[in-house]
Amino acid sequence: MESPLLRVADYQHVVFFTGAGVSAESGVPTYRGRGGIWKHYDYERYASQPAFERNPEEVWRFHNVRRERVAKCLPNAAHRCIAACEAHAEHVSVITQNIDGLHQRAGSNVVHELHGSLWRSRCDDCGYTATEFDAPLRDVRCPHCPAYKRPDIVWFGDALDPAVFEIATQALIRCDLLVSIGTSALVYPAAELPMLARRHGARLVEINPEPTPMSPQFDTCLRTTASAGLDRLLGAFDPS
Ligand code: APR
Repeated sequence: MESPLLRVADYQHVVFFTGAGVSAESGVPTYRGRGGIWKHYDYERYASQPAFERNPEEVWRFHNVRRERVAKCLPNAAHRCIAACEAHAEHVSVITQNIDGLHQRAGSNVVHELHGSLWRSRCDDCGYTATEFDAPLRDVRCPHCPAYKRPDIVWFGDALDPAVFEIATQALIRCDLLVSIGTSALVYPAAELPMLARRHGARLVEINPEPTPMSPQFDTCLRTTASAGLDRLLGAFDPS
């Protein structure tokens, strides 16, 4: 067996920066590539504020299909390995573009969800917010006013939540190791966030079976799946 490429215990602040690929082995479809969600669904019709304003019921049907699919999925070895790292490095955080909640279900305690959560909804008219794990969510009306609840997800054309962006930025500035896993690095501003860590001196590792536009900026690229890549990098089941 090859020895791990590094020890998380040698780093003070570790950031795992994740995209849809980290959940692929759990059975959650990615967005692009073979079987990708946006190959089957037009995001302008199902994942944008104008679509929600035109037809909230249709947008909710799409998100309920996603809720039902993700509810059947379990965290995989990569999610578990990331959570286990908390026992070995002083500061470990996850900055994820995923909305599936699988990092939290695996036991990660510090998770910054750049693109919101499939499990949260909000009312933009009265400010009501809710976290509900129902799959499907049947009651899509705000309980306090006549409006529809809206999935608390950053859709196409939406800005990131400034508070989440700020806290993620602070983690990136502080980190000395950033491991990017399973993102196509095509969606901004998320795609360029690892470069902030790089500018502040962090070592950058990419785990992805495919090269991405950001790959040339990484110190180490492992062209394999999330779980196999973490195994190679850290010794997935013994990340000390
Ligand atoms: N392990 C690791 N990486 C994988 C695996 C795997 N088992 N399977 C696929 N990948 C990689 C693909 O090679 C691809 O680079 O995961 C990446 C998935 O890319 P996308 O589907 O574009 O997902 P992501 O980068 O997270 O998308 C960003 O786009 O639509 C928006 O808001 C949505 O958060 C999402 C954002």
